[in-house]
Amino acid sequence: MLARDQWLRLARKLDWEYSYVSEQEVFPELISGHPWLPHAVWQDWDEPYRTSYGEYVTTQHEKDASVFAVRDAVGRLEDFAKLATPWLNALKFHAATLPLAEFAAVVGNLRAGRFGRDSAWRTMATFGALDECRHTQIPLLLMHELVRWDPQFDWTHKFYHTNNWVAIASRHLADELLLAANPIEFAVATHFVFETGFTNLQFVGMSALAHLVGDRMFETMVTSIQTDEARHAQIGTSVLATLVQHDPAYAQYLVDKWFWRSWLLFAVLTGFCMDYLTPLDMRPYSFKEFMEEWILDQYLRHLEAFGLHKPWYWDVFLEALHVYHHMVYVSAYTYRATVWFNMVVPSPAERAWLRDKYPTSWDLLDPVWEQVVARWQRSDPGLEWSTHGATPVAFCDLCQLVLCGGTPRRNTAQTLDYAGRRYIFCSAPCCWIFQQEPERYAAHKDVVKRILAGEAPANLLELLRTYFLLTPETWGKDASGGDYPWLQRAVRVSP
Ligand SMILES: [Fe+2]
Ligand SMILES: [Fe+2]
Ligand SMILES: [Zn+2]
Repeated sequence: MLARDQWLRLARKLDWEYSYVSEQEVFPELISGHPWLPHAVWQDWDEPYRTSYGEYVTTQHEKDASVFAVRDAVGRLEDFAKLATPWLNALKFHAATLPLAEFAAVVGNLRAGRFGRDSAWRTMATFGALDECRHTQIPLLLMHELVRWDPQFDWTHKFYHTNNWVAIASRHLADELLLAANPIEFAVATHFVFETGFTNLQFVGMSALAHLVGDRMFETMVTSIQTDEARHAQIGTSVLATLVQHDPAYAQYLVDKWFWRSWLLFAVLTGFCMDYLTPLDMRPYSFKEFMEEWILDQYLRHLEAFGLHKPWYWDVFLEALHVYHHMVYVSAYTYRATVWFNMVVPSPAERAWLRDKYPTSWDLLDPVWEQVVARWQRSDPGLEWSTHGATPVAFCDLCQLVLCGGTPRRNTAQTLDYAGRRYIFCSAPCCWIFQQEPERYAAHKDVVKRILAGEAPANLLELLRTYFLLTPETWGKDASGGDYPWLQRAVRVSP
């Protein structure tokens, strides 16, 4: 057998000159991406993590074996049943939003496996597609066991097959990011911004959290997935290096657009988990501290290394870091029947912790929780609807998330008239993204517009049942039915 370095140099570059078709015909710009450059420009494309198919298969097999070993040891129902209730709901949230989005990433990688502009890039993308297939299968397999115990876990697979508002928002992002992007945008958006910028570090943070909470299964799963992501995310930096040289303005546009879109999703998913759904004594840091320590510095350093600038909306972003996920959480709490996991009211101790971690913004949010608590005090445990909204909430025309940018005192909504229609956005960056490529987004209808068009029912219960595909068993509730040890109920005087 030849040693690896004797053959890899020859085997990793397998490009050739075309004799009866042109390069443009083999790699049309529409599907290969902008800017269209001849292969000579891409030929030095380099992947820092070199691997061969044989090595890939061996490593992946070992990784799968260790996931299965942990599953056999601690992946039984009784192991999950021991975990804190709020954490189990963080798990349901993650479990639903991830696996089928990973499957959409298979498609994005396969497109790059054919239309990426250098053979080494195409090979790495093919491995990336195999990775994402694994990331789809592992959570589906692990959570399947839990469905008979708690039907909300069925949403691991069901989520993207519904018109639930969170699914609409996630699909709006995942379709553009993973299914519709050409290999250049895919590499910059998915590999450089989403994976290198967010998910690699998110996985580190979430696995540390899972460790503290005692969830060995989730910890093992995300760690195993993260090692794949860290490898295939390297595609992004190599593509971005060429893009920056040939079209720096487009490179800047792509990173700024995808940083904002990724941030919103990440804030909701990880923000909820870190600041609300992890038991207080197990929280190592707040979501904001995590972002500041783990994400921001390294992301800005990466941008600088490529000669790119901070996004123009950086101040808007820094402000949102103090408040955005809190606003979405409290909005979602008061519409919790529209989601497939249960939510908690932060206790007085948790509210004190939140005030301490968010000194500039928590006082604006706390009165909302005062109201929620006062409502629970006046109603009996289990009376979900006494602390629940009845009319559908409004959504942003870009991110499709609840329209709740800014603070309870000053919202950051923006409107725009385009082609005879008025659009509304949660924030200036969402409006800006829309304006760059309006034809890409203008036709999309959020839930409220579907209701107004007669495509979805206006009655909340009908909407939940027939459009969001939730049932009384699966729709979100207060995790304790409003029965908290710290909550003093009002003394009732019988008439
Ligand atoms: Fe993945
Ligand atoms: Fe990935
Ligand atoms: Zn938005």
